Amino acid sequence: MSAVIRLQSADVRFGPVQALHAVDLRIDVGERIALIGANGSGKSTLLRVLHGLVPLARGSLLRDGAARQAMVFQRPFVMRTSAANNVALALWLRGTRWRAAREQALGALARVGLAEVALRNARALSGGQQQRLALARAWCLQPDVLLLDEPTASLDPHAKREVEALMAQFADAGTTLVFASHNLGQVKRLASRVVYLEQGRVLADAPVAEFFDRVRLPELSREADLFVKGETA
Ligand SMILES: Nc1ncnc2c1ncn2[C@@H]1O[C@H](COP(=O)(O)OP(=O)(O)O)[C@@H](O)[C@H]1O
Ligand SMILES: [Mg+2]
Repeated sequence: MSAVIRLQSADVRFGPVQALHAVDLRIDVGERIALIGANGSGKSTLLRVLHGLVPLARGSLLRDGAARQAMVFQRPFVMRTSAANNVALALWLRGTRWRAAREQALGALARVGLAEVALRNARALSGGQQQRLALARAWCLQPDVLLLDEPTASLDPHAKREVEALMAQFADAGTTLVFASHNLGQVKRLASRVVYLEQGRVLADAPVAEFFDRVRLPELSREADLFVKGETA
């Protein structure tokens, strides 16, 4: 295995708030890592750090320069133009000619089940459709590493399954996945490894089966125990 991302002793501060404390994370090619923890535990900050969007107060971030990285945000940014244009523009910005970009965009939208709304204004799409649009955009960019921030939060069960199926397709295509989730069922379905955060610290980092076999994680806090027990969706 070779590392695509290596984060060492990372601290992040937002004024008086320390959002991450001495976080170490080595991500290898092909891993499917779930970041879990209560609201405010630092999941989004960690994803943004991994994507190079947040400066470190201390520590270092090493990324494989040859690996293409994409991030799907919790509330994806969509432009006030058609769904097809939203995807095509991302390709065009990477140097694909417009006509080819449009064709690929339509293909990607079909793949995520959005063929019928491809010409509709992206801002008028539902939350679930916008999530899938963001995934189609990411799919076109063929990332080696895909970061997703709570990709199915606030989606209905059907849309949730569709997004999960897409994430599985990325994984099958060899994409390394790192995703924040509150849904432990989803974590069990998709992750190979679980990283548990509490108040900006990594309290556990283990293969998925080992993580849920809490007997082997005696160092976990009471909060972690409640978190893991309390959610089964
Ligand atoms: N841009 C920001 N400015 C100030 N504080 C922030 C900012 N982003 C996150 N935080 C704080 O950092 C901590 C971690 O937040 P976040 O990474 O969003 O957690 P999570 O995604 O697990 O809910 C929280 O205390 C949050 O309020
Ligand atoms: Mg978050």
